[in-house]
Amino acid sequence: MVSFWKSLRLPVLLLSLLRLPSRVDAACECGYSVNSTSDLEYAVFTDLLESDFTKIKNFKDDTDWQPQVWELDPKRALGPYGRATRLEAIIPNPALNISLNSRGIYGGHAGLNLIVPRNYTVINGEKYLIGAELDSARNDMFYGTFRVGYRTTKWPGTCFGFYWYHDDSQEIDTELLSREINSTHTVLNLVLHTKIGGSNLLALPGTFLVAGIPYNSTAEIHELRFDWTSDAITWYHDGVQVWTISNTTLFPAEPGHLVITHWSNGDPLWSGGPPEGDAALLLTYVKAYFNSSNPQRQLDFKSRCSSPPPSKDDKICEIPTQTGPPLYDSEDPPYFFSNDRERNATFNQTVYEDIKKSEAERITIPIRETGSVWAPAAQCSVVLWMVFLVFMPMVGGSGVRFV
Ligand SMILES: *[C@@H]1O[C@H](CO)[C@@H](O)[C@H](O)[C@H]1NC(C)=O
Ligand SMILES: *[C@@H]1O[C@H](CO)[C@@H](O)[C@H](O)[C@H]1NC(C)=O
Ligand SMILES: *[C@@H]1O[C@H](CO)[C@@H](O)[C@H](O)[C@H]1NC(C)=O
Ligand SMILES: *[C@@H]1O[C@H](CO)[C@@H](O)[C@H](O)[C@H]1NC(C)=O
Ligand SMILES: *[C@@H]1O[C@H](CO)[C@@H](O)[C@H](O)[C@H]1NC(C)=O
Ligand SMILES: *[C@@H]1O[C@H](CO)[C@@H](O)[C@H](O)[C@H]1NC(C)=O
Ligand SMILES: *[C@@H]1O[C@H](CO)[C@@H](O)[C@H](O)[C@H]1NC(C)=O
Ligand SMILES: *[C@@H]1O[C@H](CO)[C@@H](O)[C@H](O)[C@H]1NC(C)=O
Ligand SMILES: *[C@@H]1O[C@H](CO)[C@@H](O)[C@H](O)[C@H]1NC(C)=O
Repeated sequence: MVSFWKSLRLPVLLLSLLRLPSRVDAACECGYSVNSTSDLEYAVFTDLLESDFTKIKNFKDDTDWQPQVWELDPKRALGPYGRATRLEAIIPNPALNISLNSRGIYGGHAGLNLIVPRNYTVINGEKYLIGAELDSARNDMFYGTFRVGYRTTKWPGTCFGFYWYHDDSQEIDTELLSREINSTHTVLNLVLHTKIGGSNLLALPGTFLVAGIPYNSTAEIHELRFDWTSDAITWYHDGVQVWTISNTTLFPAEPGHLVITHWSNGDPLWSGGPPEGDAALLLTYVKAYFNSSNPQRQLDFKSRCSSPPPSKDDKICEIPTQTGPPLYDSEDPPYFFSNDRERNATFNQTVYEDIKKSEAERITIPIRETGSVWAPAAQCSVVLWMVFLVFMPMVGGSGVRFV
């Protein structure tokens, strides 16, 4: 027996050497991790959605996102103005060459602009303010780390929302009001909408926080981030932890998608506005690493990741943590697995690239119907408006936190 195993040693060694290149080929096939797998605490996610908006020339090419077109009349929008989203309010400003500098072809910083024009538009005899909304095509996100590179408008009177959404009672929400930005601070409104609270989430303590961030976020790019695992939901700003909820009975229980909105309805108690100038929210990226609720994706992951150890951890890639504001024209600009030509780090993931990947490596998950997608946006404003009314008088002291 012993000599039999000994005789196998050399071929096995050779085989494992031969396998080495293929392992390097698909570096991250066992997922993407927050913290390294040698750390005490870490989380692994199987799927990825990365959008480097500094490279996008024609937004229609980006099948990872569904730009929304809908209207809410003033009554339903709960403001003096109605709300309408339009494709024209989404304006790409790609960099000429992002490795050279961050300047866009129209000047200013490269990225995707979501515009709220100052002038109202009349639709069926009523006044509407135009805005923009992007929904991720992937609707199978369950647990994840979600990040957006942004710079807010300098015009007071708009609301920038970045949230994960299943329905009105399962949502992880972040809202920035441009009227709540001053020369030294930006206010983040963080809300976990829960099943237990029903649609009146306000009854639940511990699901809403107003947090002050020590930046004028109209001046440069920052990163807003939230992580959702089975035991914590945590918000970060430029890598600094802002708030953690760990009461898991309040957590979402079904999969959902990502939403980015920029809007105004003129409500002095929430968005304010209309803005006095054409207000542009700049997005430079979205990086989302998440688990999929799709059985096919789960099977794909298992089959990609089923080859035996030496070390499965070798095939898990650590997601770099953004610490401090993302600095584009520097030695260390934001990192994208999908822009990394030296690694085969996005095998069988949904990624947008300036140079399109071969069909074989690009997958498309069936997208949901767009018929009812105005609901999240409407709900977002309604709920926050109510939160505002109920809590604002008392947040002065304990509810407000600065980091
Ligand atoms: C990436 O890895 C996969 C899986 O090992 C392999 O099939 C594919 O050919 C690799 N692609 C490149 C460009 O190396
Ligand atoms: C990553 O590490 C930090 C610092 O140790 C910790 O606070 C955080 O909870 C960890 N994240 C995860 C997802 O484990
Ligand atoms: C972009 O700039 C880099 C760095 O100067 C250069 O190596 C590269 O060739 C440029 N790419 C294009 C398409 O001009
Ligand atoms: C917007 O409104 C202002 C003042 O009401 C007006 O002077 C201007 O012409 C309008 N701009 C456009 C593009 O309609
Ligand atoms: C924030 O910074 C921008 C750019 O430096 C500046 O134009 C703006 O006035 C500042 N905002 C406030 C409220 O001070
Ligand atoms: C700016 O806003 C922060 C938080 O809202 C507040 O604490 C601070 O006093 C404000 N500063 C000025 C100069 O208004
Ligand atoms: C995501 O799914 C993988 C594979 O099933 C699992 O190992 C991992 O723990 C999941 N991540 C989280 C945060 O639960
Ligand atoms: C978690 O939230 C539920 C619902 O509000 C509440 O009943 C429970 O006491 C909370 N648990 C803890 C540990 O705070
Ligand atoms: C890639 O993903 C698609 C869709 O989930 C799946 O049908 C296909 O089998 C996967 N291919 C590989 C090589 O994992």
